[in-house]
Amino acid sequence: MIRNQSTVTCELIVSKDTVLRLLERADASLLFALALKNLEYLAPWLPWACKTLSLQDIEKRIDKFLMQTKNGEAAQFGIWHQKKLLGGVAFFNHDLENHIAEIGFWITSEMTGQGIATYCCRTLLRYLFEKLELNRIEMRCAPANSRSHAMARRLNFSREGVLRECLLIGGKYDNLTLYSLLRKEWLDGTARDKN
Ligand SMILES: CC(C)(COP(=O)(O)OP(=O)(O)OC[C@H]1O[C@@H](n2cnc3c(N)ncnc32)[C@H](O)[C@@H]1OP(=O)(O)O)[C@@H](O)C(=O)NCCC(=O)NCCS
Repeated sequence: MIRNQSTVTCELIVSKDTVLRLLERADASLLFALALKNLEYLAPWLPWACKTLSLQDIEKRIDKFLMQTKNGEAAQFGIWHQKKLLGGVAFFNHDLENHIAEIGFWITSEMTGQGIATYCCRTLLRYLFEKLELNRIEMRCAPANSRSHAMARRLNFSREGVLRECLLIGGKYDNLTLYSLLRKEWLDGTARDKN
């Protein structure tokens, strides 16, 4: 992460074709177009992707994340695959005292089923555990989000339980399943060395 007075930049290499780069204001239109194209597929799981999404919402979200990134609280990366924006991965709710953060991810529907989201999450986990030296990473997913549960299993997260009605989405409260991965589990290699 490179910070100066007005900007913050960061690029994480996933593979020769894929990088994670912090999303900036200049990416707003591209991100908006991609989110609009995927709205029906994203809206059940991601509160920000509600039906009334506008370019201004995306700009505000990017600005908010960048502000939090400057303070070390969160970061939102675009997934750039063969130079095209395909989705995003992020960490947020960074608890600086207890070295905990939560991750989130999404990928455009036509690029699912190839392992790209898994590779990108592993790269983010490597950064969080090995560079930021966090101790515990959480992932929360709606009980019905089977692709997300499969991601948690592929990444060797442990299921901890159900957080009852802790997400307000589409005007209804939904449960979330809580998963976690610990730094010692990452460092022992089982979750780390798969790409
Ligand atoms: C969650 C989400 C990112 C998962 O996408 P995904 O394509 O299933 O995940 P990956 O890109 O890691 O691909 C995994 C698939 O590729 C396959 N695959 C192929 N090569 C692979 C490889 N080298 N490594 C891992 N998986 C590989 C896996 O077997 C799996 O296939 P399957 O779906 O038939 O089981 C996607 O469904 C999404 O964006 N959903 C909407 C937003 C959302 O729910 N976000 C999470 C909120 S908690």
